[in-house]
Amino acid sequence: MSEARIIDGKALAARVQEKVAKAVAELKKRHGLTPGLAVVLVGDDPASQVYVRNKGRRTVEAGMRSFEYKLPADASERELLDRIAKLNANPDVHGILVQLPLPRQIRTSAVIDAIDPEKDVDGFHVVNAGRLMTGRKGLVPCTPKGCILLIKQVRKTLEGLQAVVIGRSNIVGKPLAHLLLAENCTVTIAHSRTRDLPEVTRRADILVAAVGRPEMVRGDWIKPGAVVIDVGINRVKGEDGSPKLVGDVAFAEAHKVASAITPVPGGVGPMTIAMLLVNTVQAACRQKRVPVPKVLKDYV
Ligand code: GUN
Repeated sequence: MSEARIIDGKALAARVQEKVAKAVAELKKRHGLTPGLAVVLVGDDPASQVYVRNKGRRTVEAGMRSFEYKLPADASERELLDRIAKLNANPDVHGILVQLPLPRQIRTSAVIDAIDPEKDVDGFHVVNAGRLMTGRKGLVPCTPKGCILLIKQVRKTLEGLQAVVIGRSNIVGKPLAHLLLAENCTVTIAHSRTRDLPEVTRRADILVAAVGRPEMVRGDWIKPGAVVIDVGINRVKGEDGSPKLVGDVAFAEAHKVASAITPVPGGVGPMTIAMLLVNTVQAACRQKRVPVPKVLKDYV
């Protein structure tokens, strides 16, 4: 067996971003519409600050409007809900993203419930989760949507394949399972209580790891020739003591067994923001009752 092909998420995300920029230029010219994305950050978690900064930068690079709001770590739920109500009512804001995780005094579910489902570019609202589950059009969570695009880089059709998703979060595992089901995969969701996990993962033609455990998935957990998508981003100490990023998959081992694999960094990570931009264009078009430009047809 030869070594796995590396699926380049950075390059794919750049291509998607270019298409988004084209779509935005077209919307401005034809309809006078500039899509706008509001990102709300509560507190000063360093990783969240980096994500929010990158989202704002990419949004502007794509020609869209970016609105950023920072609330202090001790902000009340009421303050955040008031901010969301204002954004819901603002016609220049087509997408609203509240960066997670939130401080303990704020209920995440109350915040997600408060976002207008038509502006819910994260796809976390129960209305969008329900649409996804029932096969209707809606806003789909960004990371799972990016995973499907990455898989399609190396498999034209997913029909009939065994897909195993490790992780059952509302952000990744559960929505991804529904997307794979919509692609006619046979889907298994595995999690921390799954018995004999390696035996389950060895059945997978498509294996997705989204658990947040550094290098948990070993080479001998993988079926030869499988496509492996690594959603994990774990900061660990390298051999020389300096920090490094690793995924949920032991890359060097998996690389020898899989037919294709996403690296960390440079795999799933860059796709999340790219899909967020697509979702913002999709939301803006729906709110303004104009069609999504054809250049984005593969993504909506
Ligand atoms: N925190 C980690 N991933 C995400 C995401 O996709 N959306 C939001 N809002 N917060 C996150």
